[in-house]
Amino acid sequence: MSEQISIIGAGLMGHGIAQVFALAGHIVRVYDPDFQAMASLRERIVKNLSDLGQDVSATSRVFPTEDLGQCVTSADVVFEAGPEDLAFKQKLFAQLELLAPAHALLASNTSVIPITDIMAEVKTGNRTMGTHWWNPPYLVPLVEVIKTASTDPTLAQKMFDLLAEVGKTPAMVEKDVPGFIGNRLQHALWREAIAIVAEGICDAETVDTVVKGSFGRRLPVLGPLENADLVGTELTLAIHETVLPAIDHTPGPSPYLKQLIREGRLGMKSGEGFRTWTPEQQAQLRAKVLRHLKAMNAAESC
Ligand SMILES: NC(=O)c1ccc[n+]([C@@H]2O[C@H](COP(=O)([O-])OP(=O)(O)OC[C@H]3O[C@@H](n4cnc5c(N)ncnc54)[C@H](O)[C@@H]3O)[C@@H](O)[C@H]2O)c1
Repeated sequence: MSEQISIIGAGLMGHGIAQVFALAGHIVRVYDPDFQAMASLRERIVKNLSDLGQDVSATSRVFPTEDLGQCVTSADVVFEAGPEDLAFKQKLFAQLELLAPAHALLASNTSVIPITDIMAEVKTGNRTMGTHWWNPPYLVPLVEVIKTASTDPTLAQKMFDLLAEVGKTPAMVEKDVPGFIGNRLQHALWREAIAIVAEGICDAETVDTVVKGSFGRRLPVLGPLENADLVGTELTLAIHETVLPAIDHTPGPSPYLKQLIREGRLGMKSGEGFRTWTPEQQAQLRAKVLRHLKAMNAAESC
């Protein structure tokens, strides 16, 4: 069945989510108060589709709309992909509850904010949930579907089925915790990566070389718990008895990270973060990531 999809926010994530649904045959309405984001919406989607050799005419199903009400008035499903700001998202969902039809599913694409907090002002919490997509949404398969204590499980399942139908790999998150599943795992690794550099065990480039050249090679086909079963749970226990006490337990962001920011080392945008980056190196890395993601999808579809 073709659902009417509404997307709030036409930035990096919003335009990519719109692309996924339009390509799958759905009508997609998009709202963003930024003129430039709206003016360039179809153009950005056409570019992505043509780079991938996909049907650019799918863009004709994407409709930029001028106001929020017009965007969601006939929606079956609303995805919010606006700024990562709790107060903004709370206010927006309080409005969406009134503007969208009573049956519409309401989902936030927040990276880490608990959905329960975002939906605090919404009275019909049964139809609210998180849908955490990954960048770029049209190349990374996973979408976490996050239930709160108020979410109707049948509506979360409806979202899960819709995402599967449009070619995504949905994963159900049963408890609404900060960072859900993917970002908790990802940032547990980043915390230790930063601690290793801060302790002088190696430099930042070496951390990345180790990850990419070792367990990172296996990760696309061997998850951590598959790996634990592969080596055996008793070996996993023995390793944890030695290693876990030595791993960073800092309960907040690393002082090393805070120091980088104080020094103006903001990453690629300032030319230096953990490492230094020329504009050419930045462009090369971005292109390499895209090539890799495309190649993985192509290999999987063979
Ligand atoms: N970038 C990522 O890798 C990524 C991955 C997963 C989730 N997310 C989350 O998705 C959301 C969007 O992230 P992004 O990277 O697309 O950000 P972005 O800055 O590229 O896009 C945000 C868009 O929201 C628009 N916006 C501002 N005020 C608005 C309003 N009042 N109503 C509607 N739109 C408004 C902006 O004009 C902008 O186009 C955030 O919550 C972010 O944490 C991002």
